[in-house]
Amino acid sequence: MKIVERESGPFQDQRPGTSGLRKRTSTFVETPGYLEHFVQSVLEVVEVGEGPILLGGDGRYFNREAIQTIIRVAAANGVRRVVVGRGGLCSTPAASCIIRKRGLKGGFILSASHNPGGPQGDFGIKFNMANGAPAPEKITEAIYKRSKERRGHRLAELPEIPLERGGREHLAGLEVEVIDPLADYIQLMEELFDFDLMAGMFARGFTMRFDAMNAVTGPYAKALLEERLGAPEGTVVRAEPLPDFGGIHPDPNLTYAKELVELMWSDRAPDLGAASDGDGDRNMILGRSVFVSPSDSLAVLAAHAQEVKGYRRGLLGVARSMPTSRAVDLVARAMGIPCYETPTGWKFFCNLLDAGRVTLCGEESFGTGSDHVREKDGLWAVLFWLNILAATGRSVEELLVEHWRRFGRVFYTRHDYEGLDQEAAQAVMEGLRERLPGLAGAVVAGQTCTGADEFSYEDPIDGSTSLHQGIRLFFGPEARVVFRLSGTGTVGATIRIYMEKMEMDPARHATPTQEALAGLIAAAREVSRLKELTGREEPSVVT
Ligand code: G1P
Ligand code: ZN
Repeated sequence: MKIVERESGPFQDQRPGTSGLRKRTSTFVETPGYLEHFVQSVLEVVEVGEGPILLGGDGRYFNREAIQTIIRVAAANGVRRVVVGRGGLCSTPAASCIIRKRGLKGGFILSASHNPGGPQGDFGIKFNMANGAPAPEKITEAIYKRSKERRGHRLAELPEIPLERGGREHLAGLEVEVIDPLADYIQLMEELFDFDLMAGMFARGFTMRFDAMNAVTGPYAKALLEERLGAPEGTVVRAEPLPDFGGIHPDPNLTYAKELVELMWSDRAPDLGAASDGDGDRNMILGRSVFVSPSDSLAVLAAHAQEVKGYRRGLLGVARSMPTSRAVDLVARAMGIPCYETPTGWKFFCNLLDAGRVTLCGEESFGTGSDHVREKDGLWAVLFWLNILAATGRSVEELLVEHWRRFGRVFYTRHDYEGLDQEAAQAVMEGLRERLPGLAGAVVAGQTCTGADEFSYEDPIDGSTSLHQGIRLFFGPEARVVFRLSGTGTVGATIRIYMEKMEMDPARHATPTQEALAGLIAAAREVSRLKELTGREEPSVVT
């Protein structure tokens, strides 16, 4: 194998964010050596030896080219075996599953998750470790440091490797195995869920619509829902992964999964509506004219876990990211199990999962998962809901209403202010930070703030600390406002404001969410001086 040294970097902008390195596609495509340099830095920091390592992605524009490039850099750095999803495809949760099942040394996942793709969109890359989990902060920071210092990268001169056919190929001491990216994952789902019970429900006429949003979950959902569970053909829509996701924003929420939302609020609504994002780790769950907020979804899954095959033994504990609503805390308290609060980002759950402290975890940002893999998992959440619906014979709405009666309802909303000027966004956060000491006891928009702090986290397993994880304002024990800056954007800045309020009285559970939270929304706007500092009056996305 001929190995050459090539010029690249040092680059100052290769710091991985909440979930890997994400940039405009053009940055990866047009900056010579940009991808190679990052991969070189990763391989110098994490020890993968001769491999095997997994390569796969969500199929977005540049996915295939990136795989060829990574193989060349990996081979030049001593990797002797790579495992690649057929066509270069692999959903993020399936990648985590495959790494774990096959005992691989780790893997590169090519995705910018829910961000649009295509030459005008975004591209991303992240590394998952041998436990299937995204590289922890300590490692991503070391990778960043390396990328800022090192010059150049190593590259093996190899021919283009065919990715369409399954099987093993040997090239100059390198073995490339192209695998079916569905098989291991489907098998795992069969171990966790009662497929017969769910198939019986479909056979009796249960209806659903799954929107794969032209992204990676299409083939997975078709195989699971239509082929295994017998849902009628056409249950899965937008099922073919397209390089530009058909020009849409592949993010399963009320704004971007508009067609599904319209269907679920129409008189043609099926029993269940669900969607997943670009790389398959997010999920949205809808019933007939009801939206299950991801925070509620986590709480419902926790409360019903024992009705599902893979979780019959009960839950070791649960975890949620700090801005996620405290609905799951109420369930954990009632069940007498621990509940952990971690910073935003799935990687913070992984130590708890590895240590056997928690079984289920979730984030308000449409992420739910369990100890079956080390990523959040969109289709897993959909199957979990299907399994509970089949086991209880209830509708989505009935399950939710019963849940709120039993545990109390936590009204919840997130307001995103996207595409803000970096400095203006920083000024908002800085302003809040400066005012923190004076906030406890202050009256904001007619409500008394009872406490305010900036969230920091000490990992109970490895003792590492993460500072500046969001500003929290409390209004009594039942209400809360959280501010944080997004860490996944590629242009400008996004401020996210999360508001929640517990309501124990079932007579008030039917109040529309934005109405129930109107007071907190006003308080958040006033205290942050958002309009004054950014010129924005209204959020760009409300969930
Ligand atoms: C967002 C979500 C966060 C999630 C991440 C990756 O990050 O808020 O919960 O883990 O995407 O999917 P943010 O942009 O807020 O940093
Ligand atoms: Zn994603």
